[in-house]
Amino acid sequence: MKVGVLVSGNGTNLQALIDAQARGDLSPGEIAVVISNNPMAPALARAIAAKLPAVAVDHRGLERQVFEERVLASLDAHGVEAVVLAGFMRVLTPHFIERYPLRIVNTHPSLLPAFPGKDAIAQALAHGAKITGVTIHFVDTSLDGGPIIAQESVPIVEDDDAATIQGRVQHLEHRMLPVVVRRLAAGKLSCQGRIVRRAE
Ligand code: GAR
Repeated sequence: MKVGVLVSGNGTNLQALIDAQARGDLSPGEIAVVISNNPMAPALARAIAAKLPAVAVDHRGLERQVFEERVLASLDAHGVEAVVLAGFMRVLTPHFIERYPLRIVNTHPSLLPAFPGKDAIAQALAHGAKITGVTIHFVDTSLDGGPIIAQESVPIVEDDDAATIQGRVQHLEHRMLPVVVRRLAAGKLSCQGRIVRRAE
């Protein structure tokens, strides 16, 4: 199953997917294209270094609908059947999401439904939470509210700051995300209402 990866920034989660693919651990998933809304994203350089098609669709100055049509056209051109949001910092409209029913996954740096939206780690820190974590979920038209596929926690300890927590969170998501993508590509995830089950 051909997978499109949408990114905005550093791309460490993309790198985890690239590394998993190189090991054969993403199969039958295959990264077909990497698309960034930020032309300067280091993630694009990671894609190029891995000899993957890397596409920039700069959202600035574009109406949301035009931006999404360009992204969809690129996904279509590469035969993409499933989409991974790997640090993609744009909200997608229902028009986009409905093109890939139960075929878009997102990794989010909190234990959803706690701390949705932007700056989830800073939100957890400011709230005084003692644990946070990673949630990988199907994307529906709610903000970070789709059915949860995988979720793991990390502690927040005294003297932590956003950077130390982010290190812990990313270590976890780099392990979790390739596993989810492999299962999705293999058709091993089923969803009834909010409940996601895996057959493996
Ligand atoms: C990741 O930690 C991801 O969970 C988070 O952005 C980071 C991107 O890092 N996503 C969100 O906050 C989405 N709301 P990366 O570019 O190094 O993969």
